[in-house]
Amino acid sequence: MIDVRSDTVTRPTPGMRAAMASAPLGDDVFGEDPTVNALEARVAGVFGREAALFVTSGTMGNQLAIACQTSPGDEVLVGEHAHPVHYEVAAASALSGVQIGVLGAGGTFTADDLEAAVRPPAYYQPRTRLVCVENTHNRAGGRLFPQTAVREITARARALGLASHLDGARVWNAHVATNISLRDLAEGFDTISVCFSKGLGAPVGSALVGSRALVERARRFRKMWGGGMRQSGVLAAAAMYALDHHVARLAEDHEHARAFAAIVAGSPDACVNEADTNIVNVDVVRVPADRVAAQARELGLAIHASDTHRLRAVFHLDVSADAAREAAHVLVAAIRAAVAEARV
Ligand SMILES: Cc1ncc(COP(=O)(O)O)c(C=O)c1O
Repeated sequence: MIDVRSDTVTRPTPGMRAAMASAPLGDDVFGEDPTVNALEARVAGVFGREAALFVTSGTMGNQLAIACQTSPGDEVLVGEHAHPVHYEVAAASALSGVQIGVLGAGGTFTADDLEAAVRPPAYYQPRTRLVCVENTHNRAGGRLFPQTAVREITARARALGLASHLDGARVWNAHVATNISLRDLAEGFDTISVCFSKGLGAPVGSALVGSRALVERARRFRKMWGGGMRQSGVLAAAAMYALDHHVARLAEDHEHARAFAAIVAGSPDACVNEADTNIVNVDVVRVPADRVAAQARELGLAIHASDTHRLRAVFHLDVSADAAREAAHVLVAAIRAAVAEARV
């Protein structure tokens, strides 16, 4: 089975497993795990910040950023189809008591969109407090957020008295696709969340990056939410290994996504987005996406039906160039079969 449902499905490589097995460990709730401490220092340094906190997931990274920079009754502004809107179980309202407002279209937005959405200081309105940028954007098909817009947004947020957060679950892909340094991609944001468990191939783990004071506040929430971990150096070692070995190779995933998209675009019944990075959205207007996914599975391809008429393919280190091309041909056949089935 070729599995392009997500870049989270990767298994640790033998090298990564060896790094995990030999990692020096301690109790991280006591701050004594040397591997976690080394990872946190390294990630803070990569982004030019004071501190980082190793956390269980990208969801926890985003939610800690929200909890640390808002109060109940505040509003958080995000791009259309941002991860916290679709896939974080309304955690922003449940855990932080905030409301989410959506800006722009297709995942990106401008500084003017932001300014227009900021609410006046009337006591009966939510207080606009935080803006989040998702780069790359998952539901928009791995879309890159234009860097000029990012700079204007963070500057405008500061001028308007708002905090800003980068959901950088796949900021590594943005870095490799654009050649812009990680530090520059994160410049101007108060907090950054990154994931090691997506394209980087680690089994578990994300980080929240920011000022020392904010990270210490986040550490309290992490414990409160049950995310304090003990010998989590076994996981941090996988993340370290991924930073050493799996960043530059993301370019291969981007190439595989482009090759896949070019083949699928040949189907008369598919409409494919431009593959900026490692994600390809395939719209199948004439048939339900879940029927196509079911047909594909019978032919040996696991692909995610991300909407009624949309499939999502995500490329990662367990999908070779040949497998990516094979996946495209299987998908084209599955679409054809689903269309024929719908005609009967
Ligand atoms: C953009 C983005 N942010 C955050 C997350 C959350 O990561 P996790 O699944 O580790 O909670 C994801 C997961 O796919 C994501 O795509």
